[in-house]
Amino acid sequence: MGTEVVVEGLTKSFGGQNIWQDVTLTLPAGEVSVMLGPSGTGKTVFLKSLVGLLKPERGRVLVDGVDMINSPERDIYAVRRLFGLMFQDGALFGSMSLYDNIAFPLREHTRKKEGEIRRIVLERMEMVGLLGAESRLPGEISGGMRKRAGLARALVLDPQIILIDEPDSGLDPVRTAFISQLLIDLNAQIDATMLIVTHNLDIASTVPDNMGMLYRRNLVTFGPREVLLTSDEPVVAQFLSGRREGPIGMSEEKDAATLAQERHVAPAPAPRVLAPQLQPSPGLPERAAVERRRARVLAMLADLPEPARAAILQGQGENWGHGQGHGQGAGQDHDRGRGEDAGQDHDRGHGEREGQDQSRSRRHAPAGGGGAL
Ligand SMILES: Nc1ncnc2c1ncn2[C@@H]1O[C@H](COP(=O)(O)OP(=O)(O)OP(=O)(O)O)[C@@H](O)[C@H]1O
Ligand SMILES: [Mg+2]
Repeated sequence: MGTEVVVEGLTKSFGGQNIWQDVTLTLPAGEVSVMLGPSGTGKTVFLKSLVGLLKPERGRVLVDGVDMINSPERDIYAVRRLFGLMFQDGALFGSMSLYDNIAFPLREHTRKKEGEIRRIVLERMEMVGLLGAESRLPGEISGGMRKRAGLARALVLDPQIILIDEPDSGLDPVRTAFISQLLIDLNAQIDATMLIVTHNLDIASTVPDNMGMLYRRNLVTFGPREVLLTSDEPVVAQFLSGRREGPIGMSEEKDAATLAQERHVAPAPAPRVLAPQLQPSPGLPERAAVERRRARVLAMLADLPEPARAAILQGQGENWGHGQGHGQGAGQDHDRGRGEDAGQDHDRGHGEREGQDQSRSRRHAPAGGGGAL
């Protein structure tokens, strides 16, 4: 099963420029999370900080009991091997075949023999639908294939945590839909904790279990997907509706005069009925994270804002909402600030969740296979 990632009070600056401050969230084990945010808000910097490649000046990132920011380099190095990283630009070596690119981490970080390496590389290439393209160079294939090759390379060391930076950039809507399905299928097969950075609203609304958003040097919110997707918070609503009117401008923040001019434009209402989350392709196991998330979200349900609670109950149909006692909370507690609620609730559910996770860890889907991809 994937490993939980706990981020506490993380603050990062370059020189005098603060990128974000006091970011606190937990990526639940084996669940898929998405981080949204306008360009330049530090999403890539955040991913790099989680693996210890960049050093925030304050805060902690706890993975398997190791603080990825402040621990000795050798401890960080050992835990880094739990991670698979897919960079924004694919970051493939241009002069190497896809096969050699994908084999690279195995040759670099393990003592595996070439026969074993071959088995793993071909298995991962099959998972992402690249079998047959082993000898192609990155410059000879489409952007979508490069993305998938980057994903295959991120998978060869059997990662428990997969960080993916903009899987959709440069892809057409159909390829983006395929990659969305691929991410869900991967999660079903290897039960890894996943964090996806994206601007793509289709991915954001159909793939993750949890969502967060970085804006103006802060984490606006992080929690179950339904919280952000039904949020009326102006910056969230503007981002999710892709409108020009709202607090986000071309250079991230609009000035007061522009905002005043826009006041007559009614904000887009947040949706109350959400698109269903993608399911694994036929023939694949169910995602083991679904059961864990169900228990986790039920435990926090009474504290969520009303629209999020309604969307959760509606979306999950008959399986949810009966006999669990959570209905008692309906109508209470939703007059607090939503962004804060989500973060706090998330942390509060944490202790309980660990016990639940252990009792449910029986379903560990094996990595590999995946002919349906
Ligand atoms: N190594 C670095 N040194 C100095 N500044 C940096 C460094 N890396 C990133 N930055 C700055 O940090 C800010 C956030 O960059 P980042 O790449 O994380 O944004 P992003 O949210 O990923 O944007 P996009 O959506 O366009 O990919 C930018 O202002 C960038 O110039
Ligand atoms: Mg980026």
